[in-house]
Amino acid sequence: MYGKGRRQQLQGRSNGASLFRFSSSFSFYKRLRFILVLLALVALLPPVFFHFRLRRFHQMQLRRCGWLNNPPLVCAHGGDSTNALPNTMSAYNFALRSQVDCIEIDVSRSSDGVLFALHDRDLQRISGNSTSKVGDLRSNEIKELDASHQFGDSKIPTIEDALRLISRSVRQVILDAKVGPPSYEKGLAKDILSVVEKMQCKNCLIWAKSDSLARDIIKLSSDVMVGYIVMVDPSTGARTNLLRMKGARVVGVYHPLIDERLVKVLHGMQL
Ligand SMILES: *[C@@H]1O[C@H](CO)[C@@H](O)[C@H](O)[C@H]1NC(C)=O
Repeated sequence: MYGKGRRQQLQGRSNGASLFRFSSSFSFYKRLRFILVLLALVALLPPVFFHFRLRRFHQMQLRRCGWLNNPPLVCAHGGDSTNALPNTMSAYNFALRSQVDCIEIDVSRSSDGVLFALHDRDLQRISGNSTSKVGDLRSNEIKELDASHQFGDSKIPTIEDALRLISRSVRQVILDAKVGPPSYEKGLAKDILSVVEKMQCKNCLIWAKSDSLARDIIKLSSDVMVGYIVMVDPSTGARTNLLRMKGARVVGVYHPLIDERLVKVLHGMQL
């Protein structure tokens, strides 16, 4: 019983030894495979790590600097009015030299119906008469004005002259249409549109403080971009209505009124 048992045990051991040999070669390959897999994983780790790091970095960059993909236009009102009188050819040339994206031109009409790049305020500086208005003067009187001894270039360009210089050198032209006495809005929309058409200004945007003028322009032309102005009403002190003009594609907002909510509402309306 004992002897048999021992033989069996011995047999078992010898079986065990061959089993061990087999399992040792088996575990060698297993180990090798394990090490190879481990090495592969270790090798994969840095690219995976940097992939996620880079993705997070891009997300953060997009959140912080996403606006850089669609940056705001830099617009020079009246050209570069720090270096020259606003709305003179010199002011426009300075602005073009600084590579602005956009120039805003003030548009006023003389008593005989010529459109000038001129603001009443600047007319008063040039003429030295604090009550003069563009609408009271004839085009030849405006052309004769000269204050070069005081301001350097003070020659007042017509809108045609201004557009000829600017329109193809900037991304956007804004015509800020002024309504003044004695003719006010009468025929003004038509006059402005005819100059825009004549000069083939495809990047001209027209806006005005006068809603009735802006509405007239929308009514007369479907392809010119028209905007209205949101500001503080000087008589009531309240903000003028934010969404108020059908067909307008742009809103000019007085800068202290701009906040995130207002921009969201306007963008929601595709403005
Ligand atoms: C100033 O302008 C007003 C309005 O156009 C005019 O009535 C007045 O005669 C002008 N004054 C002078 C000194 O030219």
